[in-house]
Amino acid sequence: QAASGAPAAAPLATSAAPAASKEVTILFGSQSGNAHGLAKKTAKTLEASGFQVTLSSMSDFKTNQLKKVEQLLVVVSTHGEGEPPDNAISFHEFLLGKRAPKLDGLRYSVLSLGDSSYELFCKTGQDFDKRLEELGAVRLFDRVDCDVDFDEPAAQWLQGVVGSLNQAQAGSGAVAPTVPTAAAAATTESAYSRTNPFQAEVLANLNLNGRGSNKETRHLELSLEGSGLNYQPGDALGVYPQNDPALVDELLAATQWNPEEQVTINKQGEVRQLREALIEYFDITVLSKSLLEKLTPLAANKEALELLASDRLKPYIQGRDLLDFIREYGPLQGSAQDIVSLLRKMPARLYSIASSLAANPEEVHLTIGAVRYEAHGRERKGVCSVYTAERLQPGDKIPVYVQQNTNFKLPENPETPVIMVGPGTGIAPFRSFMQEREETGASGPSWLFFGDQHFVTDFLYQTEWQRWIKDGVLTRMDVAFSRDTEDKVYVQHRMLQQSKELYAWLEQGAAVYICGDEKQMARDVHRTLVDIVEQEGGVSREQAEEYVAAMQKNKRYQRDVY
Ligand code: 2AM
Repeated sequence: QAASGAPAAAPLATSAAPAASKEVTILFGSQSGNAHGLAKKTAKTLEASGFQVTLSSMSDFKTNQLKKVEQLLVVVSTHGEGEPPDNAISFHEFLLGKRAPKLDGLRYSVLSLGDSSYELFCKTGQDFDKRLEELGAVRLFDRVDCDVDFDEPAAQWLQGVVGSLNQAQAGSGAVAPTVPTAAAAATTESAYSRTNPFQAEVLANLNLNGRGSNKETRHLELSLEGSGLNYQPGDALGVYPQNDPALVDELLAATQWNPEEQVTINKQGEVRQLREALIEYFDITVLSKSLLEKLTPLAANKEALELLASDRLKPYIQGRDLLDFIREYGPLQGSAQDIVSLLRKMPARLYSIASSLAANPEEVHLTIGAVRYEAHGRERKGVCSVYTAERLQPGDKIPVYVQQNTNFKLPENPETPVIMVGPGTGIAPFRSFMQEREETGASGPSWLFFGDQHFVTDFLYQTEWQRWIKDGVLTRMDVAFSRDTEDKVYVQHRMLQQSKELYAWLEQGAAVYICGDEKQMARDVHRTLVDIVEQEGGVSREQAEEYVAAMQKNKRYQRDVY
């Protein structure tokens, strides 16, 4: 709603230019919630400045309204290999397709979120930015591409956008509202946030896998006591891990830096000892192209420059880290301070929450798979997962915050049936769902598809699922243990075996949830869902795809994939 104050003045009679509109439409496409949060913040800031804001997820936006929009802000993330978030897919397809209208009168700006450790960094935002220009729209402020540490660039974009919108107002003879600073617009929803995480005490840290398993999956229980933090099933917890001290020591040895040297760790000028700074504050395990662009000019071995310019770069950065680069192309010219200033801040890792607050007041539980593998002659360890597995003890504290995820929510109606597909650590949010449904006495039927390698060692939370089945909280459970039999059996095979029943659930309005591996599992499960609709609904492939797309649009098909 428009704030009171700044009345919309009529354009001056002498002015040739029409009054710039006070209406702004903000469309967001968000997977983990960051773009959604920034879109909300943008809306608040603009409303405080007297603008009338329409804030909408791209999936809820009626594309036939687009021609009526005069000022458009797009806030969108990119995930995986350059892909739009689920709630941006249809709008992205529409706008980049042939049906997109001419947008001559439109003024716009794009805020693009991404992760520079992926090759197609910020691709979706770039797509929108380029396409809007092609369609005749004019930028009111240049696109800003943000890395995982997005606060500062996003605040700059917001300030630039507000300034530009206000200028248009002033230029058209309308009363110019004051430009609020981005900081003034910061929300105060909770004392603890991504930029001010809560130090949560570890209550328990267990290995869920049995002896002899190929896997190690940690069940982590944290205390939220005194934090005032709240979450809903489907939300995620952001966790700030620490780098492996052994890796940091190897890096210090390779660079011959003094571990006790004092270094500045941020723009606010905070100072730490170098070793501590490398353990806690900097990302040293991702070798992105943007980091190499800064490092190669400093490398003693000039072949590094050739590498950067060649198509060998992409395979090189896959699975290598800063230590590999320094060993191969170092030493680097410059002080430790010079080099660490080029590193990005340690990003938080997001984990789907595995508990419900209703069942566990002031606690949050996570299900974390320890990532360990060998690459380029060295053992590699997932930063957060192995920190959890090897170094985090009950009584320790770890910085966390709650990341809302509006794209993965139990149905509003507790009677709506739910189908949950979550192999491996994908099981996490469904434990939260079941705890919540049990606690609130939800009456809707529920169906779990779970899979992992071996029944004996890898059936995560087995006794809990069995109890829920017994108590009728969980209606059906189908499991696929892929390495217990000669032929691989996956969750999608179990779904297909139950296709008649599953389709009947869909027809009764069931909501389908998929959590876990994105590249293989979620794609295969999606295809299987379409197969089932095609087969059991007796419709064409295209119609089956539309059926599933409609489910997605109506939030009856939601994914939390990684
Ligand atoms: P696999 O490792 O034996 O191939 C959790 O990791 C489970 O998901 C494992 O049983 C794993 O099987 C399985 N999995 C691997 N790829 C999959 C896919 N494309 N679809 C479904 N499940 C898959």
